[in-house]
Amino acid sequence: MKSKKNILCIGAGYVGGPSMAMIAYKCPDYRITVVDINSDRIDAWNSEELPIYEPGLDKIVKKTRGRNLFFKKDIENQIKENDIIFVSVHTPTKTYGAGADMAADLQYWEKTARQILKYSRSSKIVIEKSTLPVKTALAMEKILSSAKGKFRFEVLSNPEFMAEGTAISDLENPDRVLIGSHQTKSGLKARAELIKIYSRWILKEKIITSNIWSSELSKLVANAFLAQRVSSINSISALCEKTDADISEVAEAVGMDSRIGNKFLKAGIGFGGSCFKKDILNLVYLCRYYGLKEVASYWENVVKINEYQQERFVANILNGMFGTLAGKKICILGFAFKADTGDTRESPAIYISQKLLAEHAELIISDPKALKNAAADLSGIKGKVKYIEDPYEAASGCHALLILTDWDLYMNLDFRKIYKTMVKPAFIFDGRNIIDHKKCFSIGFNVYPIGKPALSHFKI
Ligand SMILES: NC(=O)c1ccc[n+]([C@@H]2O[C@H](COP(=O)([O-])OP(=O)(O)OC[C@H]3O[C@@H](n4cnc5c(N)ncnc54)[C@H](O)[C@@H]3O)[C@@H](O)[C@H]2O)c1
Repeated sequence: MKSKKNILCIGAGYVGGPSMAMIAYKCPDYRITVVDINSDRIDAWNSEELPIYEPGLDKIVKKTRGRNLFFKKDIENQIKENDIIFVSVHTPTKTYGAGADMAADLQYWEKTARQILKYSRSSKIVIEKSTLPVKTALAMEKILSSAKGKFRFEVLSNPEFMAEGTAISDLENPDRVLIGSHQTKSGLKARAELIKIYSRWILKEKIITSNIWSSELSKLVANAFLAQRVSSINSISALCEKTDADISEVAEAVGMDSRIGNKFLKAGIGFGGSCFKKDILNLVYLCRYYGLKEVASYWENVVKINEYQQERFVANILNGMFGTLAGKKICILGFAFKADTGDTRESPAIYISQKLLAEHAELIISDPKALKNAAADLSGIKGKVKYIEDPYEAASGCHALLILTDWDLYMNLDFRKIYKTMVKPAFIFDGRNIIDHKKCFSIGFNVYPIGKPALSHFKI
């Protein structure tokens, strides 16, 4: 028998899986089904080893899977059965044709809209969860309303603000939930339906509403602002390395200003992940499309500084290690784009590894969760690469350690033990400023942090 409280999510990725698991967990009287065209992904969601690593995710999937959370492959049937449909398919940067390398590739979205139209046998609420360029909902509505007079499709925008690595706590206790709708009777009715779901566990004042376009744009802008802070502090780290200033001290002093705040002010090798770069480029594309070339170039520079920071890091390694890396063994600690995830999409480690291999260095890559993805990212690239999970084993016999991900694990390593097994002089390039630099220097390492003077045992 068809229940009134059925929800479908199309796209079982980093957003679809965790966000639907949270709704299932908080709303036991709703039946949530997640579908995907990638059947291996669905198998993994139904297995003991979930397709993504996210702290706390295992626990809530175990509690809900088979109870009111289901991962299925029969997309056609599921569209027929469910009247509330979240869409969280990916929206990568377009790699071809008009807008290549900037605009969002909306082919997955459009295919989903056409599937919904083709298989629907009743009216539906369709909710954009993917991050989309402004006015995508309009395109979706045009497709959905092409079968005139049959059923009604009300499109809402409900962008996801969770961050990988903290997805479960972000979903459980979000800063805000944003719902964009048309201000029509049916739009407001659909919006109320979605508010009903979120208000099961989220305070009413944190559920905010807007028109659809504001909602779509807010997600792009939130990511652009976060990335802009990272690039701002990283640009200043370059200046610190040329002077006697220390970026951690500068960031502390600046961040204590309550108008600025101290979050996202940590210098490092730059942002990664599937979203920041893609969403900024998308914003840049939109600005250009509307003839706002100054605004476009302002945001484009956020991405340029991010790339510059990674180039600088590689140049510092090369300079520090006497201008040559050929035949030297370099241990990379951390390949994921941030701690607490196995995701390596757009990870700075990819670019840095490629550059080091081009210098004929040998790489030994270590990461607690991302080695499978790292091997896929570097497959087909010429050079010697080994993958070793244990950081002590990975570092043994190496000339240098690079810290590329801020895993807690690396803060607490026994660097004295590691130093003994490395080739001397031994180097550390701390791309995340997470270890005790003075202590490592006193052990014997030559230490190169970001945005601080290097601690070198060489007199020249
Ligand atoms: N990853 C994040 O941290 C994050 C956070 C907030 C928002 N977002 C946004 O959410 C969206 C999804 O991101 P993600 O990281 O979950 O992507 P993802 O690549 O992990 O997952 C997307 C899934 O959609 C599936 N898919 C594509 N077309 C389909 C179709 N027609 N039918 C069924 N399944 C289909 C793919 O097979 C894939 O498994 C993107 O727009 C992204 O920008 C991501």
